[in-house]
Amino acid sequence: MPAAVRRPLAFAVLSALALCSTAAAGNGGFAPVDAASPNAEGIADSYAWVSIFTGFIFLLVEGSLIWFIVRYRRRRRTRAEDGPQVHGNTNLELAWTALPIVILVAIGAFVFYKLPGIQDVPSANAAGGRVDVEVKGYRYYWNFTYPNGVIAVDNLRAPVDQTVKLDITAPLFEVIHSWWIPALGGKFDAIPGVTNESWFRAEGPGVYRGQCAEFCGIQHTAMTAQVEALPRAEFESWLADEARAQEAGTSDLGEETYAGACAKCHGLAGEGDIGPRLAGNSLLQDANALESVIRNGRGEMPPVGKDWEERQLTALTDFLEEGLTDGG
Ligand code: CUA
Repeated sequence: MPAAVRRPLAFAVLSALALCSTAAAGNGGFAPVDAASPNAEGIADSYAWVSIFTGFIFLLVEGSLIWFIVRYRRRRRTRAEDGPQVHGNTNLELAWTALPIVILVAIGAFVFYKLPGIQDVPSANAAGGRVDVEVKGYRYYWNFTYPNGVIAVDNLRAPVDQTVKLDITAPLFEVIHSWWIPALGGKFDAIPGVTNESWFRAEGPGVYRGQCAEFCGIQHTAMTAQVEALPRAEFESWLADEARAQEAGTSDLGEETYAGACAKCHGLAGEGDIGPRLAGNSLLQDANALESVIRNGRGEMPPVGKDWEERQLTALTDFLEEGLTDGG
């Protein structure tokens, strides 16, 4: 084999091996993250099924391409020299018409078979019960509301082995965001005025990370989210304790809201970044002016808390007055 052929061929083989090894080691983004919820498993199974066909077609097409390049290269023939003239091949034509139909039917049938397990939210009356959480997307944080009124920001605590139904939406004054925790199921847009339903049932305790998947503005990349799955008893006692603390105004909701809704632009210690410096700002001492900025926005700042419950607004203003007044 001449060097002019050998080198590109060696390069192609090495690249393919490198791709395969990253794919095998923690998958390097080539395969979905490990599913940790029944709906996410349905998605992963469908992905694997489609990959079998696309992988086979990839090898067939690229293999033939390389084969033809090597086998039918010019060698010492002149440019003018013609090869044998071939007209039609009935068997080949039948095969490349029928095979794609068979493949598409096989893919479609499998996905439709899996779809109910991915899409249908398990009933609230099913064994084990269900927790329904409202998920709202804002620039640039997620607000969660539990059935007992508890509010959380960016970190969604959830019970292990119990269905959690998500009502995903965004307020009317917002832009479109997209909720996606890959290990716990598909991606759902958070559209102003529209509610999309999704669900998950975390198979083990742990933290499952996600990211807003719709470009929504300057801090889109900072709009992360996570589900913290806890053993059921632990989750239930947290939820009850948190309800009491939020009613009494002694919870960490203010700090959590600051970290989610303010710090991404104003800095974790109010030192300023995209937004102006907050630490030492006299606005923090003027409750009415502060509420007005949070509710209505100002300049480039969106109205981050326009539709917040009173408890969340109070928690944040208390935190700002106490925590940030003297620079942290
Ligand atoms: Cu919200 Cu991107």
